[in-house]
Amino acid sequence: MANEATKTATLSIDGEAEPIELPVYQGAEGPNVIDVGKLTAQGYFTYDPGFVSTASCDSDITYIDGDQGILLHRGYPIEQLAEHSNHLELCYLLLNGELPSTEENERFVSTIKNHTMVHEQLRRFYSGFRRDAHPMAIMCGVTGALSAFYHDSLDIDDSEHRRITAHRLIAKIPTIAAMSYKYSTGQPFIYPRNDLSYAENFLQMMFATPCEDYEVSPTIAKAMDRIFLLHADHEQNASTSTVRLAGSTGANPFACIAAGIAALWGPAHGGANEAVLNMLDEIGSVKNIDKYIKKAKDKDDPFRIMGFGHRVYKNYDPRAKVMQQTCHEVLEELGVEDDPILEMAQALEKIALEDEYFVEKRLYPNVDFYSGIILKAIGIPVEMFTVIFATGRTPGWIAHWNEMISGPYKIGRPRQLYKGATKRDYEPLANR
Ligand code: CMC
Repeated sequence: MANEATKTATLSIDGEAEPIELPVYQGAEGPNVIDVGKLTAQGYFTYDPGFVSTASCDSDITYIDGDQGILLHRGYPIEQLAEHSNHLELCYLLLNGELPSTEENERFVSTIKNHTMVHEQLRRFYSGFRRDAHPMAIMCGVTGALSAFYHDSLDIDDSEHRRITAHRLIAKIPTIAAMSYKYSTGQPFIYPRNDLSYAENFLQMMFATPCEDYEVSPTIAKAMDRIFLLHADHEQNASTSTVRLAGSTGANPFACIAAGIAALWGPAHGGANEAVLNMLDEIGSVKNIDKYIKKAKDKDDPFRIMGFGHRVYKNYDPRAKVMQQTCHEVLEELGVEDDPILEMAQALEKIALEDEYFVEKRLYPNVDFYSGIILKAIGIPVEMFTVIFATGRTPGWIAHWNEMISGPYKIGRPRQLYKGATKRDYEPLANR
């Protein structure tokens, strides 16, 4: 549906006679946006490095109120979804806009389960990687390679092809993820088991071996499912925007998701969960926390408290609250009463939340602060943490890609404030 202006913004520029009128649109929630699209025709671009004040698209999928610490998926608060729903139901909601009926839910779960296996030929890709390759490197490569396997569903203008691709990606990413772990340990790949839930199946592909089944604890499976659910979508973050940008060229969805995985890898984004654990290891003991808080506040020191701060949340990340509670449940189930890492994380959180620097800059724990502690307790190696984030985020990426492709869209093409050399003539080599 075309946007309708509710107000008009007037932009006057020094020395120009006519002010420029710009339409203002109102969203269902959140701040109004000024449509600057027609500024180009007036000889201007807007300038907003890092897209701090720029909405890049319309979307119906997820809403975040960063000041209040609110996260809604299709209108449903994340806390309610975490308590009453599960990851696959949220996948359905993100993709379709509404919660499924019992029958729709059964059909969706069964469809996902029936797409969990990957083409046998895909296994060969793994042997091209070194055993010590980072699993995110493998994820980028193997997910991108899926486009070479599913020629039957690559017509992005066909909604049925898009639907099948969404199902394939949600179903196969955990298999690809678990295979990247198995490859690093030298153990044989474990096939998916369709009698298990999404999270249970992932855990068994990670931890079973051909000689021994993996007994999945219900608490651990619930925690795993919650981790996937809490990461499922987060509106126009860096990786989702990357997926949209790649998709806006008409690139195939597997390539777009591979681009999203690559963008997620960085420590400022999905790589933060791995970085939190590495940071806690480096801090080593509660008695060193003050020293590291000082380092984080020192402008000449690049050190940051990983798992703290967020571009949008200027309040406690609602996902971090659920994560903290899950963390306690998991450690209790595993009988880990005095976990030194958790003890350090809690002490660090307490000190940072009271410290003037963090209070003034409104830096709160984010989703990654506690997820790493849970994953470590479950036995997932640190290098796999961002892979787990990617697995959880896949439905969000694909829902955004599908939303964009289903409506009118343009190729994403930002402009720039050019500061380089002005026009000059080429000087032959002999004269330089
Ligand atoms: N520790 C210490 N200082 C910080 C931190 C931190 N974790 N985060 C931000 N700051 C300071 C920063 O130095 C800056 O100070 P000043 O205004 O004096 O220059 C101010 O707070 C604003 O920071 P910014 O980098 O301009 O803010 P941003 O919105 O561009 O960055 C962020 C957001 C998440 C990249 C940043 O907070 C950060 O690097 N956090 C640590 C990494 C992390 O936990 N990332 C996971 C994000 S949540 C998962 C996801 O959605 O990907």
